[in-house]
Amino acid sequence: MVKKIVLFNNKGGVGKTTFLFHLGYALECLGKKILFVDLDPQCNLSSSICNDEEIDKMWNTQNSIYHAVEPLIKGTGDIKEIKPYIVNGRTIRLIVGDLRLTEYEELLSTAWVESLAGNEIGFRRTSSIFRIIEDISNANDIDYVLMDIGPNLGSLNRCVLLSCDYFLVPLVPDLFSFRGLENIGITFKKWINDWNNASNRFKEENKTLSFHIQNGKPVFAGYINQQFNIYGGKETKTWKYWTDKVPQMIENNLVKKLKDIDEKMVIDLNDGSHKLGDFKSYHSLAPLSQQKRKPIFELDNQDVIGIHRNSVKKCGKDFKELAAKIIRNI
Ligand SMILES: Nc1ncnc2c1ncn2[C@@H]1O[C@H](COP(=O)(O)OP(=O)(O)OP(=O)(O)O)[C@@H](O)[C@H]1O
Ligand SMILES: [Mg+2]
Repeated sequence: MVKKIVLFNNKGGVGKTTFLFHLGYALECLGKKILFVDLDPQCNLSSSICNDEEIDKMWNTQNSIYHAVEPLIKGTGDIKEIKPYIVNGRTIRLIVGDLRLTEYEELLSTAWVESLAGNEIGFRRTSSIFRIIEDISNANDIDYVLMDIGPNLGSLNRCVLLSCDYFLVPLVPDLFSFRGLENIGITFKKWINDWNNASNRFKEENKTLSFHIQNGKPVFAGYINQQFNIYGGKETKTWKYWTDKVPQMIENNLVKKLKDIDEKMVIDLNDGSHKLGDFKSYHSLAPLSQQKRKPIFELDNQDVIGIHRNSVKKCGKDFKELAAKIIRNI
C-alpha cells in the first residue's frame, strides 16, 4: 500500500526540499517506486528535478498541481486528471509545482470552515490534494509519496498534513526551532481533532459523500537532526546545549500531544527514540547537485574532484541507511 510522507517545519531554509529530494532517490535505489509532489509555490523541488524547459512544458500541457485543482478554483467542477513528469529511465515520478497554487490557499481557508460546518463542498475541497495523490499513486503503482511544502502553517499545508500518512520533522537545534515546535504541536493537535470531529459528525448524521476523504491522522515518524550549518565538522558548545534538549522537546511538544489523540499516532523507532537520523553538511556539493539535477551521491568523477569524492560516497551511505530505516519502520 502506498505511504504518503511529508516533511514539516515552519522554519524556512532548513533543508526540507534538499533532504526530501535525496531521500526519494535513495528509496528508489532500494527498489521503491517514488512519487514526488511539489506543493510549495516556490517550486524548488520541481527545479531540483526538471530544467526550465521541462517545467514550462508541464505547465503548457496543463499538467501541474495547479491544473489538477483549477476547476475547484474556477468553480467549474472537481479535481482534474493530470499526468506526472517521469524522470528518464527511473521509477521516479513528479507532480510539478506551480506558482499559481497560492490562488488555492484562500479557497482552502474557506473550505476548512465549510468542512467544520458539515458542508459537502468543504470536504470536496479539503480532500482535493489527497484525492489527486491517491489517483496518481494507484495509476502508477507508487510505493512512497514524498510531499514538499513551504515553511508555514497555512491552509494549504494543513490540507497536505491531513492528507499524508506520516510526517517527519527536520530540526535545527536552536531556540527558534524549539519555540516553533511548541507551536507545531498545538496547531497539529487542533487541526487533527477538528477534522476528525467534523468527519465523524458528518457520518453520524448518515450523510454520505461520493468521493473518498483522508482519515486525517498523520503519524509522527521521527525527527531529523539538521546540522548542515554546523561549522568545522563538530558541534560548538551552544549547539550541543540545544542538541541535548531535543529528545525532551520532541517528547513534550509533539509525542505527548499526538498520543493524547491516539497512541498509534507516533512511531517508536527500534532504538526507542524518535530520532531518524542526521542531515549533515555537504557544503558546496549541495548547490552542485542542484545544478546537475541529481542527488549528491550520484555525482560522478567528472562532477567532483579529490576529497569531495569521499563526501559523495559518505552521502550515499548515509542516505541509503536512512532510507532502509524508513522502509523498516514505515
Ligand atoms: N545538507 C546540506 N549541506 C549543505 N547545504 C545544504 C544542505 N541542505 C540544504 N542546503 C542548502 O541550504 C539552502 C536551503 O535548502 P532547502 O531549499 O532545501 O531548504 P528548505 O527548508 O526547503 O527551504 P524553504 O523553507 O524555503 O522551502 C539551499 O541553498 C541548499 O542548497
Ligand atoms: Mg523547500
